[in-house]
Amino acid sequence: MTNSHTINQPSTDHRLVLAPMEGVIDSVMRDLLTKIGGYDRCVTEFVRVSQTVLPPRVFHRLCPELLSGGRTPAGTPVFLQLLGNNPRLMARNAQVAEALGAPGIDLNFGCPAKTVNKSQGGAVLLKTPDLLRAVCAEVRDAVAPELPVTAKIRLGFEDDEHFEDIVRAAVDGGVSELTVHARTRRQGYRPPAHWSRLAQIAKESKIPIIANGELWSPADVIRCGNVSHCEDFMLARGALCRPDLARAVRHAWQGLNAPAMTWPEVFPLLQIFLRSNADAYEPRHACNPLKQWLVYLKHYFPQAGALFSSVKRIRDFEEMDRTLETIAPELSEAA
Ligand SMILES: Cc1cc2nc3c(=O)[nH]c(=O)nc-3n(C[C@H](O)[C@H](O)[C@H](O)COP(=O)(O)O)c2cc1C
Repeated sequence: MTNSHTINQPSTDHRLVLAPMEGVIDSVMRDLLTKIGGYDRCVTEFVRVSQTVLPPRVFHRLCPELLSGGRTPAGTPVFLQLLGNNPRLMARNAQVAEALGAPGIDLNFGCPAKTVNKSQGGAVLLKTPDLLRAVCAEVRDAVAPELPVTAKIRLGFEDDEHFEDIVRAAVDGGVSELTVHARTRRQGYRPPAHWSRLAQIAKESKIPIIANGELWSPADVIRCGNVSHCEDFMLARGALCRPDLARAVRHAWQGLNAPAMTWPEVFPLLQIFLRSNADAYEPRHACNPLKQWLVYLKHYFPQAGALFSSVKRIRDFEEMDRTLETIAPELSEAA
């Protein structure tokens, strides 16, 4: 892959990564979305490394795919994300992930959460590029040379003045790819994402720069590519609003006008999702992921908003399952 993005030239030589999203994109969601297709890679929610070398069960909980070769059932590799600031400890935990079969390690330098930043993890490392470099370098050295070590950063902490220094630190630290969430920590998740800020580094960088932020539609991804000069993209909230987003982006790159997924096609996924979560969560929490997903889906499917209103008070898994069962035939008639 090269960084020579050609404006408006459809190409299939791009990669799409399904973003890590703590508490939202877990193995069940990765399974569903990668089966729909279009993704080259996933990244887990972050494993927080603070004081110890974590036991395998912590890695397995966030990445059950480790038990199946580090891939989703559809065969998409799942990189394991680590968050922390202690280079030695991060390296030792990376070795555990490697031993458990992770196909790659991703380092989180973008999380804006106050609790995480207070314990000196996530985006707070953007303030200290030397430490960021040391974390990357020590992890890189600790695992086999062929195991990819990637990192995810933002444009900066308060502002983007030191963006180039941060990129240099990660690249000097030896990461093989760098995802940039094109906002500062201060900008949180507020639009816009500043894709143009990536253009210079994407043109000059020897490693792939993966653009991230505000990619809600195929048109956004194409515009982002033109503006940022990146060839690879990470989809986050947009992937939850539109489960076929990655596939639709690939169609757009090929110049195809393929039909988008419809609500009657999405609905059965909700049933699968609910039932898959029944095992992963305590009974009283088993309906929460479904409600959370509906809140994202309603941005694209108004029907999801209506469904959310009618099920939001249901806490019992069986009742939720029955309610979805009752609605399903109505939808197939409407389809
Ligand atoms: C609820 C939530 C949880 C997230 N958890 C993580 C995480 O664990 N690791 C990470 O690197 N980024 C995390 N992110 C950031 C996303 O991966 C992504 O960078 C961000 O949402 C910007 O992309 P978007 O505008 O397309 O959503 C999270 C974002 C949200 C909204």
